[in-house]
Amino acid sequence: MRSRVAPASSQRRRVLRGIAGGAVAAFAPLTASAAACGAEATLVTPRRGGFLGRLRPSSGETVVLTAGAAGALPAGNTHGPLAYRARRDGALFLNPTIVVNRGDRLRARVVNALDAPTTVHWHGLTVDERNDGVLPLVAPGAPYDYVFEVRNRGGLYWFHPHPHGATAGQVHDGLFGLVDVEDDETIALRDALDVGPRRGETTLVLQDRRSAGRYVRSPVADVHGFFGDAMSVNGVGCATLDVDTRIHRLRIVNACNARTFLLGLRTFEGREVPFHVIGNDGGLLAAPVQATAAFLAAAERLDVLVDLRAAAVGDTLILETRTFDPMHAEVDMPDAPSDADAHASHGTQTPADPHAAHRAAAASVDPQAAHRDHAGPGGGAAAATWPEGSPRDLVTLRVRRQVRTDRTIPTTLSAPLASIATTDAHERPLRLGFKSGHWRINDRVFVMGETPIEVTRGSTEMWLLRNYHTSMPHAMHLHGFAFEVQERETSPAQVGALAVDARGRLATDLGRKDTVLVWPGESVRVAIRFDLAFEGPQTYMFHCHNLEHEDGGMMLGVRVA
Ligand code: C2O
Ligand code: CU
Ligand code: CU
Repeated sequence: MRSRVAPASSQRRRVLRGIAGGAVAAFAPLTASAAACGAEATLVTPRRGGFLGRLRPSSGETVVLTAGAAGALPAGNTHGPLAYRARRDGALFLNPTIVVNRGDRLRARVVNALDAPTTVHWHGLTVDERNDGVLPLVAPGAPYDYVFEVRNRGGLYWFHPHPHGATAGQVHDGLFGLVDVEDDETIALRDALDVGPRRGETTLVLQDRRSAGRYVRSPVADVHGFFGDAMSVNGVGCATLDVDTRIHRLRIVNACNARTFLLGLRTFEGREVPFHVIGNDGGLLAAPVQATAAFLAAAERLDVLVDLRAAAVGDTLILETRTFDPMHAEVDMPDAPSDADAHASHGTQTPADPHAAHRAAAASVDPQAAHRDHAGPGGGAAAATWPEGSPRDLVTLRVRRQVRTDRTIPTTLSAPLASIATTDAHERPLRLGFKSGHWRINDRVFVMGETPIEVTRGSTEMWLLRNYHTSMPHAMHLHGFAFEVQERETSPAQVGALAVDARGRLATDLGRKDTVLVWPGESVRVAIRFDLAFEGPQTYMFHCHNLEHEDGGMMLGVRVA
């Protein structure tokens, strides 16, 4: 254990240098929008009800979630106009965190109080197709009962609408919630760290939004994805978090339509502070992995520990997203002649259209400029004010209390997950590309009812996700089955720089995943065991979680039988 320190300011500086471990990096000053942030809101886990409040249904209880107007929100709130509302014991929950034990039956009645059809998809949870939230559509005014056993490992999962073609707007406008699955290992971890939802553990839901209000579609956003100008963390714009001098756990969810973050921590003085990755989409890792930065794409979750034992009262840390190249190399694609046919026949990543390579090179010189050139209404205009890959402060952590702690970062977090055996795996290439106005998988655009991916129940497959150099990053997500990232190849330098093993994997690739970001030019291998706990054939979705790409048809049906 490190020694305790007096909160004298000169000493405080030294302590923070200690936390930073000597790593000094240059950081941009506060962005204009962050500086103009206005009313600060302190993030707290509400005791009863509230935004993201923890709702633990008793056995047999049905949680009634009404999808509709969020209602009056407190000042400083940047949450959208919509929310899932639930009432329990007189308390009102907005976008609740449903807390369940692994093995429990989750019962949720969704009441559609919108003026459009909706559904609820239980992102990351292993359910049958009846509960997967693709079909049936729930008509305005109608209820639908989702009932399923929670089979997944302990971890943070989430739920959101999934009505094909309208998902982006409903999620942007505020419809999402969380599912915290608890099991023996997650309970043991909380005990070991002496943390809990109101004690050294904070869930952070990150979402960028249109400050002007409701979602607006635009041709630019349809290609790039929607990028908001306003940031919302747990529904507020200027998020601060009061922390103690102990090990603090942050459970982060990227609920953006399209934006990837490059997350990191820095001191107020601008020194990089390392953190420990302890889990991701599919629950806890076997052991913590230290990191100084992590990409977090749409729909991904990241569980980290921040060691504040050597901090002093008055210290400030900032959770930020840093500068990176968003690699939107497809900026001119809507007008570009199609080259996907050539890819299909040769299976090569060389662009058939020589201009595409040229444009890609030009765009990579100044990707922000490419965004600005395309600024239009909605996503385009928003991209111009806060382009993807430009920095912003997300949460200010203020050390408020000195506490005694004898806890340390655990060396083991969970029983090691057996690596998925792939010797007999069927290899399935899946190419991500753009043609004739649509993002596609293997040159196909989604058609409801079609299942181009047919999988044998109980089999293991190795999916080879290949993204063209001329493309942009795609956050590929599979319903129903957690997968194991086996390898990243030909990664861009900014991605390769974060690799933690010889297979090019990142800290955010370890353990079990349901969403993986595939960068332009990259090949990512994922192993999937299609063990099916349900009778009869089941259809799931494989899609890009850039919601504009998904709504535009960058999705394929997967039939497991
Ligand atoms: Cu969270 Cu099919 O998506
Ligand atoms: Cu999903
Ligand atoms: Cu995509």
